Amino acid sequence: MKNIVILISGRGSNFEAILRASREQRWEQNPGARIAAVISNRPGARGLETARREGIPAVAVDHKLYPTREAFEERLAQEVDRFEPDLIVLAGFMRILTERFVAPREGKILNIHPALLPLFKGLDTHQRAIDAGVRVHGSTVHFVSAALDGGAIIGQAVVPVLPSDTAETLAARGLELEHVLYPRVCRAVLEGRVRLEDGRAVMDDDTARELAIFA
Ligand code: GAR
Repeated sequence: MKNIVILISGRGSNFEAILRASREQRWEQNPGARIAAVISNRPGARGLETARREGIPAVAVDHKLYPTREAFEERLAQEVDRFEPDLIVLAGFMRILTERFVAPREGKILNIHPALLPLFKGLDTHQRAIDAGVRVHGSTVHFVSAALDGGAIIGQAVVPVLPSDTAETLAARGLELEHVLYPRVCRAVLEGRVRLEDGRAVMDDDTARELAIFA
């Protein structure tokens, strides 16, 4: 059985979408995977409550209790490794992970970023997209590398930007598709249909089509 460890910082709606897909599609049977734990750097994260309610181990590693990023990360790594993860899924996890965490786990960590990378790395992506006047926006799932929002792109979901949009309405439109995209990417990686090779996400044409989603 492959273990998925999900890292969150808040609401956890992407975690819920992955959980729902894993149950509806019986991932325990095929590809043989389960969500082994949900870990949050914020003890009050709503997603931790969801995990507990669903019988999934829920762990808080409060970054505020550690004097340095390195100390926090070391503790986080211990907690993550306890669940022997085959896949580490960052789902609204709002702490930067350094080389020390990422390098030994390269190719096993995914992140979802609310923009069409390589555009709009970092924070406040929806307002920045509106301000830039782009007509499409969306979300990207990528392998995590030590460069912030810079790892190999696996899949993207594209939504229109409407003249009436606020950052909130645009975020909501994007989030709906994130809930379709992220479970698909997780499954494809777990099935070995997507791999990290020489800094690129390698997959066949059918998988690439499945992981390009348009509103
Ligand atoms: C998602 O929209 C995700 O793309 C974004 O946070 C939201 C988390 O929602 N991630 C980032 O901004 C990462 N820098 P959720 O907690 O409901 O899944």
